Amino acid sequence: MSEGLEGVVAARTVLSHTDSAAGMVWVRGVAIPDLVPLGFEGTVALLWNGFAGDGLTGGTIRARFGAARTAAFERLTPWWFAAAAARPPLEALRLALAEQPDASTPEDLVAALTVAVGAIRRAGGGTAPVPPDPDLGTAADLLRMTHGAPADPVAIQALDTYFAVMAESGLSGSSFTARIIASTHASLAASVLGAWCAFTGPRHGGAPGPTLDMLDAAAAVPDDALEDWLVAKLAAGERLMGFGHRVFRGNDPRAEAMRTALQRFGPAAARVAFAARLEQAVGRAIARVKPGRALPPNVEVMAALLLDAVGFPRAAFTPVFAVGRSAGWIAHALEQRAGGRMIRPTSEYVGPPAG
Ligand code: COA
Repeated sequence: MSEGLEGVVAARTVLSHTDSAAGMVWVRGVAIPDLVPLGFEGTVALLWNGFAGDGLTGGTIRARFGAARTAAFERLTPWWFAAAAARPPLEALRLALAEQPDASTPEDLVAALTVAVGAIRRAGGGTAPVPPDPDLGTAADLLRMTHGAPADPVAIQALDTYFAVMAESGLSGSSFTARIIASTHASLAASVLGAWCAFTGPRHGGAPGPTLDMLDAAAAVPDDALEDWLVAKLAAGERLMGFGHRVFRGNDPRAEAMRTALQRFGPAAARVAFAARLEQAVGRAIARVKPGRALPPNVEVMAALLLDAVGFPRAAFTPVFAVGRSAGWIAHALEQRAGGRMIRPTSEYVGPPAG
């Protein structure tokens, strides 16, 4: 067996291809940098074409998402809103997804997430939710619903880039979960709820908030003590958040796209420079603690800086991440449902002998 299914091919997909040696990901044949001008809705059209409709364009997806956000807002219940005010954002989003009907369409589910994330931020601050504007794109409307005012174009562009480049990531734990659930022919709503649950762990979609905590803690350490500080953490067996990946060994093109978007924010650009110094210090520290091993940054360092720069508090990072990534979960669930067999592996028994 392969611990953690490393190297196991568990699905055939037309959705994306990763070449970690070349440092590139292609979503339906389109390289990550070329997704940026398509934006989130254009990327969703690519991903969903043939699965959630034919001949999809960014324009059709934008119209479908806008109408679905209006309907999702009308479905928010007073019960859920009260729960959202009282519970942490991860739990509030789990409850929001649990309320979605089994008959939900792909756009219903992305819209339910978008509207719930905006409403959770408002509920947490004790303010009324802001209704969606169906004419806006997802990034612009989420920022508007969250902050209660039209967003800055630089922030909209940055969040749109983030959603586009992070929408699909192969068989990550959450997308694989979506496929497992879809393979039993359970509903799409069930796939998305299950994917969200798998996503929330700090080793996966729960990483960006703790990554920003670590960046802040590292920034408070004097430059000449940084490497020793990291060595002490590694020697104590701590995981450095925002570092390490099962597939990528550095040069993640998604991080590069976000770095470019971040350069347009004044103060955030300075933190990008610090992140580069931290990456180098982590490289030197891991060489001292585990010679011959590398610990390159993953995409979460740039993601955390971007989400902070556009004004989300760190408790909201994972819910916001899910808005974009839900497009990938849905594509995987629909692809699995269209052609895959039920996923049902076997285990190796290592308990006491039978009888
Ligand atoms: N900090 C310190 N050590 C790390 C590490 C990290 N961030 N990531 C992996 N390692 C070490 C493990 O301790 C382990 O060491 P050992 O062999 O001496 O016991 C080794 O690398 C392999 O770890 P494993 O968890 O099996 O590797 P993986 O390929 O499954 O790890 C992650 C992938 C993402 C789970 C892991 O790198 C991690 O936990 N990173 C931090 C959380 C994070 O940023 N997640 C977001 C991912 S996009």
